[in-house]
Amino acid sequence: MRTHRIAAIPGDGIGTEVVAAGIEVLQELARVDGTFELAFEHLPWGSRYYRERGTYIPEGGLERLRAFDAIYFGAVGSLDVPDHVSLWGLRLPICQGFDQYANVRPARVLPGLKSPLVNGGDIDWVIIRENTEGEYSGSGGRVHRGLPDEVATETSVFTRRGAERIHRFAFELASRRPAKHLTLVTKSNAQRHGMVLWDEVFFAVANDYPDVRWDRELVDAVTTRMVLKPKSLDVLVASNLHADILSDLAAALAGSLGVAPTANLNPERAFPSMFEPIHGSAFDIVGKGIANPIGTFWSGAMMLEHLGESAAAARLLAAIERTTASADMTPDLGGKGTTASVTRAVCDALRSA
Ligand code: IPM
Ligand code: MG
Repeated sequence: MRTHRIAAIPGDGIGTEVVAAGIEVLQELARVDGTFELAFEHLPWGSRYYRERGTYIPEGGLERLRAFDAIYFGAVGSLDVPDHVSLWGLRLPICQGFDQYANVRPARVLPGLKSPLVNGGDIDWVIIRENTEGEYSGSGGRVHRGLPDEVATETSVFTRRGAERIHRFAFELASRRPAKHLTLVTKSNAQRHGMVLWDEVFFAVANDYPDVRWDRELVDAVTTRMVLKPKSLDVLVASNLHADILSDLAAALAGSLGVAPTANLNPERAFPSMFEPIHGSAFDIVGKGIANPIGTFWSGAMMLEHLGESAAAARLLAAIERTTASADMTPDLGGKGTTASVTRAVCDALRSA
């Protein structure tokens, strides 16, 4: 029997609730599939751990994490720790330390869900987010702190290597989809150095993929296109910050932030990849048992796909779709369902498939 070793990092807030639900569903899936097993190990890294020990990731933690086949992540962020500290303490060291440069964010209106778009939301997109550099490079600093002349810089870093590998990844992915269409998102009209390199490298990589149709759109303009002409988009490749913003818009247009999944991939598999819902820790609903677990389940399906369990991934997606189509969903989708009831519904759907 194939065994996949998975590190579970529930983290903060509703992360703990949805990851527990995700593990329950994935274990049920492994049981009904019968050809593989999942060995989860729980790592308690999060903001409570940070308050107790002064660090999110213990000494030697990344080396330990490296031995796993994948990472199943919940959320990080807590009211009593500044967001930039928690983010740079836990999530970014994993994304950057494990060179998870391809962040994949599918957006689709699942059966039973309603897009706020008047035309019903003909949405079937994959946003590819550059995940290691750009506006999140961490390059910059502050001088003359607290003085009237204080200065802060936040430098975006674009490298030829970084742009080339993410554009190539995006073309590869686009070439495997029926529409075979890729949109380059940029802001090279205003940002005349990094973003111009970003575009130039894209045009060069495009030559290797004659079967993929592509176009180029400025990031501000692409938001209107997402709302007004959703069908004209298929795969989008965007910088770290641009894709961060666009993926929230995409999730809202697809019906709810609660269902949106993401994969932080190291495509070369030199390091484990990380799978997480994009919603974050959502303090307003912590402990109420109403967090939507669908984004975590969908992320679990992406994890299985990455681990080579394509049949199981498809089975899980089908169970998710049957549940969103028929079960009472959580309040973010206007229902009265709970994390537990939606989890049960997906497990039932898995068994009856
Ligand atoms: C995301 C999130 C994070 C990001 C936050 C939690 C810092 O919004 O994954 O999209 O901006 O990268
Ligand atoms: Mg975001």
